[in-house]
Amino acid sequence: MLKHAPNGFPIGFLWGSASAACQIEGGCSEGGKGLSVADVAMKQDKEVPRIEYKNVTKEQINAAEGYVGEELYPKRHGVDYYHRFKEDIALCAQMGFTAFRMSIAWSRLFPNGDELEPNPEGLGFYHEVFKELKKYKMEPIVTLSHFEMPLHLVTQYGGWADRKLIDMFVRYCKVCFDEYGSYVTYWINFNEMNGTRFNTFYSTGIVREDWGDKFEQATYQAAHNQFVASAKAVKYLREKWSNARMGCMVVPFTRYPGTCKPEDVMKMQHDMHLDCYFYTDIYMRGEYPGYALRYFDDHQIQLETEDRDFELIKTYTVDYLTFSYYSTSISSVEQEGWETTDGNLSQQLKNPYLEASEWGWQIDPMGLRYQLSCFADRYPGVEMMVVENGLGAQDIVEADGSIQDDYRIDYLRRHIEQIKESIRDGANVIGYTSWSSMDCISSGTSEMAKRYGFIYIDLDDNNEGTLERKPKKSFYWYKKVIETNGEKL
Ligand code: BG6
Repeated sequence: MLKHAPNGFPIGFLWGSASAACQIEGGCSEGGKGLSVADVAMKQDKEVPRIEYKNVTKEQINAAEGYVGEELYPKRHGVDYYHRFKEDIALCAQMGFTAFRMSIAWSRLFPNGDELEPNPEGLGFYHEVFKELKKYKMEPIVTLSHFEMPLHLVTQYGGWADRKLIDMFVRYCKVCFDEYGSYVTYWINFNEMNGTRFNTFYSTGIVREDWGDKFEQATYQAAHNQFVASAKAVKYLREKWSNARMGCMVVPFTRYPGTCKPEDVMKMQHDMHLDCYFYTDIYMRGEYPGYALRYFDDHQIQLETEDRDFELIKTYTVDYLTFSYYSTSISSVEQEGWETTDGNLSQQLKNPYLEASEWGWQIDPMGLRYQLSCFADRYPGVEMMVVENGLGAQDIVEADGSIQDDYRIDYLRRHIEQIKESIRDGANVIGYTSWSSMDCISSGTSEMAKRYGFIYIDLDDNNEGTLERKPKKSFYWYKKVIETNGEKL
């Protein structure tokens, strides 16, 4: 019998929000934690395009290493989740979260990254976090590396361009699986794995000035090493924790052609291949795609590989696909005549049909449905989660103490509606975790003023405030969304 299309979100759909250890925890010098790449990120002016400050120099790294305080480096203090996680998780429980995306700070478990044994205090902290999530029956979705690798791996080894990192990361993963395997089913290997090219320092620890004209090659080498590391981690997970699942995560930079000129359409396909599908194809299908081999040949990119790498990558692919979705981009062979704007991890050409956030990120709910359907067509039947989606905005606390963030509700509503549409189209979407449950330090600019949460945190860009947590209007709205499994938007 011919089936009907689904009518809404499936029963058991995972609802929650996402976070990253380096943006919320703080406690940078507590519990034996080592410095991570996130701890060298200084607050940036939002008027400065992201592209100009995301390449961290050696001089900046040395200065950060020698700096003991927190003031200059906001991710070191975060929003004090390290001490307040119980209160924060309880607030998420009040919203009815069934899932909670978080990351483990590698540098809390292995302060330098190359130790043979983990730091017991770091292990203990996440045990407490997982117990708390379990208390409220929230499914943890755990990212193993979210722009927070130990800084020592940068200064000592030059980051992920060095193959030695493969086994160090696998050691860290094994510890996570064995320690927390009874709590966690859903693991994610690398946050926005295409960050190797777009957020290179924070994703890979590669310092541009070390590589000169071999910089691009180094970013692909880092990606290759991460593919192998993920495969080895999946191998261990399958052998020891067979019910667990490993996912990959990408920021797709969903694209439209600038015009209907065939050249623009080819450019769009080329950009999607290199910026997004290169990563998902390898993680999902286990092979380097033809378009990548050609690109490497045409650009003299030579990778250091071992034959066994390809067997591992082929055998130990990931189990599900996740991605962040904030905005879309345009591809055009003609660069002149376009205005540009800032976007997630990169600069974009401005789409005249879209509005943008205060930070210039173009808002495109329908693009989310389009991207879900592209993935569903490319990897038939694949389970997908939208693990980040949200609006960075400055919130105002009214005289009565309330925060009327209708703009955020509107943004999220329009995106969730499109996920619902894509489920009707046949996409196998199993979860949605907005960015973020609570305000946190911005990943890109290390600002506090750029807020994404349902929970307001009283902290400003000068690290002043009481740190009091306060539900915004969107808090109550999202609670309703979850209660009705996405029926009441
Ligand atoms: C994604 C990251 O790139 O975008 C998150 O995975 C980040 O860590 C989010 O916070 C929003 O970016 P930003 O720069 O506005 O914090």
